[in-house]
Amino acid sequence: MQDLAEPEAGLWRRIERRFVETCRRYGLEEVRTPIVEYEDLFSYSLGKSTEVVQKEMYSFPEATGRRLALRPEGTAGVLRYVSESRPATEDVRLFYYGPMFRRERPQAGRRRQFHQLGVELICAADPVADAECVALQVDVLRAAGLGNFVLRINTRGDLGDINRVTQGLRQQLHPFLPELCPDCRRRYETNVLRILDCKRDGCRRIVGRTPEPATYLSDASRSYIEQVYAVLDRLGIAFRVEPRLVRGLDYYAHTIWEVTHPGLGAQDAVAGGGRYVVQIGTRRIEGVGFAVGMERLIIALQREGAGLPGRREIRVWLAAVGEEARAANLKLACQLRAEGIACLVALRFQSLKAQMRAAAKSGAELVLIRGDEELRRGTIRLRELDSGRERDLPAGRVLEAVRGVLGPLGGRA
Ligand code: HAM
Repeated sequence: MQDLAEPEAGLWRRIERRFVETCRRYGLEEVRTPIVEYEDLFSYSLGKSTEVVQKEMYSFPEATGRRLALRPEGTAGVLRYVSESRPATEDVRLFYYGPMFRRERPQAGRRRQFHQLGVELICAADPVADAECVALQVDVLRAAGLGNFVLRINTRGDLGDINRVTQGLRQQLHPFLPELCPDCRRRYETNVLRILDCKRDGCRRIVGRTPEPATYLSDASRSYIEQVYAVLDRLGIAFRVEPRLVRGLDYYAHTIWEVTHPGLGAQDAVAGGGRYVVQIGTRRIEGVGFAVGMERLIIALQREGAGLPGRREIRVWLAAVGEEARAANLKLACQLRAEGIACLVALRFQSLKAQMRAAAKSGAELVLIRGDEELRRGTIRLRELDSGRERDLPAGRVLEAVRGVLGPLGGRA
């Protein structure tokens, strides 16, 4: 788990802002759900046999004995919110962002506390809705400034198809069981689809000899995903069909996707999503959504040469000699800030020399200097830091003069 500070924090803020703007253009509403939920919400919705639930959740008992968990992803909490607060007849479009927690072995692009930008469109299975969600996925990444990513899509079919694929794969893989890695031998029992995801060469070779999961699909499921592809083609969205993509969470049915980036190394998925069905209490909730991994997005952006935003926006420093002048400067600072001009006053009593050094370091363009003499005369000295030019102004005309130097509304060019 890591701290986040400037200048990276500025980049995060910029990405979050663009994410929100993009979601708003698609008519999505924001939702913020708690970081802690009952553990069984996750085990039921993500699937008891998934790696996230089996190995990666931070969970602990409450005083009552009921177990809580730090959320390992955002979808389950959002669906719990929908089940409690939104009528079943309503289609709901939601976005969220924040920290998620998984007890994984940390490495580049893999953290125990990581952050997701997420979207959930709560609606019945419909290829056009899935395609719109993919379009939003692509827009979100583009708005963040990412160019060079690859969108890989596949389908898991409906629940009947998933059962047929699972049984078919079990049969196909049975003769090779002794050759699979220990993890895949365990997956054979608990979650055979995940064997398709194994990165080990030996397992990949064996998997390569099994029929593609699509061969088990019903006609209806095949037609569903073909329609998704057709709409994406119409939208001009480039994608690759990835016949052995499965995704790691059990709630998926029909369309699934992952977005990879060549700059990411072993953990190359910058985002992933798909259509899902989850039973929460008495309600069966269907939807389609995705989540972008913030840390990985940042790495990918940096590999593409994205710069960090400027460190500070400070434009004016108010230097004071004497306590009375400091108090008067604070009032002027509040007036400048009310006009949208970022400015600083020293947080403690400092010599004028120290304040001038701090002003230069802050990146300010102007220093306003006020001492006993200026207070008595009702003036302020304005110094332009680049040129070193100074002039004395009546205090009442300072705002106007600052605006004149900084340009309209204090906006930076
Ligand atoms: P996920 O594929 O498990 O999907 O995670 C989405 C993204 O979160 C990944 O592509 C990756 O970028 C990032 N991520 C996951 N684990 C870590 C980690 N330990 N460290 C850094 N980044 C990580 C979900 O979570 C689904 N809830 C997405 C979804 C929403 N599907 C439908 N709706």
